[in-house]
Amino acid sequence: MTKTYTIAVIPGDGTGPEVVAEGIKALKVASEIENFSVTFVPYDLGGERYLRTGETLPASAVDELRRMDAIYLGAIGHPDVKPGILEKGILLSLRFELDQYINLRPVKLYPGVETPLKEKGPEEIDFVVVRENTEGLYTGSGGFLKKGTPHEVAIQESINTRMGVERCLRYAFNFCRRRDKERKLTLCGKTNVLTFAFDLWERTFREISPEYPDVSTDYAHVDATCMWMVKNPEWFDVIVTDNMFGDIITDLGAMIQGGMGVAAGGNINPEGVSMFEPIGGSAPKYTGKNMINPIAAICAAQMMLEELEEYKAAQRIEKAVMKVLARDLKSLSAGKMGYTTSEVGDLVKKYILGGAKEDSA
Ligand code: IPM
Ligand code: MN
Repeated sequence: MTKTYTIAVIPGDGTGPEVVAEGIKALKVASEIENFSVTFVPYDLGGERYLRTGETLPASAVDELRRMDAIYLGAIGHPDVKPGILEKGILLSLRFELDQYINLRPVKLYPGVETPLKEKGPEEIDFVVVRENTEGLYTGSGGFLKKGTPHEVAIQESINTRMGVERCLRYAFNFCRRRDKERKLTLCGKTNVLTFAFDLWERTFREISPEYPDVSTDYAHVDATCMWMVKNPEWFDVIVTDNMFGDIITDLGAMIQGGMGVAAGGNINPEGVSMFEPIGGSAPKYTGKNMINPIAAICAAQMMLEELEEYKAAQRIEKAVMKVLARDLKSLSAGKMGYTTSEVGDLVKKYILGGAKEDSA
């Protein structure tokens, strides 16, 4: 019997629906070739729905999403909605509700893609950031005192639990093993200033690392990590860090791998339902213009297949993406690719089919 996956699709705002459509194209052909089937269940969540109904993430939707095999997300963010509402109400809520405690962000420069780093190429830029995704400064813990007065106090607390830190570190060690590149795990922190939070991180890191004798460990402060990511990105294999630092360094990572047009990420619950997304945002000014680059969304689909352990199908997508990047696209920027959004999706589809023909020849 062929395996069937049920994938929730949240196209979301702005250019989300356009890029997600191209990822679905790739998922469909890759699944046909590898003999499994994928059913897509659309969810209307995002800025438009919020403006229409005042709802961000209804509890009934969360209950349904819990039963999915994975979630495929386009983008969340609407120019007419105050910043924070949709991010907290949808994206962060999903991460927390579904306990997606890892944010996985590959930083990989593909051949043919331009990096702003001089003298660095695909050989040097190929690492993965494992970002804690449910704690730290993101929990919403804190508050105001005497708000609006000259004596106002604003407190935003970084919450770090032993359990949360340890499960993230263990995921990173195991991921490093599975990736099997240099088997080197770098903890990125700030032990010289954040002497409580990163004391816990570093102690836990040191305590559990003997259980992974085949993985070598290293430590770098977050500011130094930024420096090395630019100067010597080849030093990194897997970086593990907290939620806030992870947010910041992964945008830097996206830039050195060629920009938002290629950067994808996974919000992972290794024991539950994971969610995959291009990290570029909703790009309102390109909405509906068939101009935005769908490669990041297609890479997110590839990551989803990896998490579902459909490795062959994932590889077919990655190979096709690499061909498009190396042969076809003039630039990764919206409107400058030399192709429309849907044409880029068609090229990926063509190369997936072509790759399958070569295999059977
Ligand atoms: C990301 C995004 C989110 C974050 C925003 C949209 C809340 O920047 O996924 O990196 O800060 O985590
Ligand atoms: Mn971010």
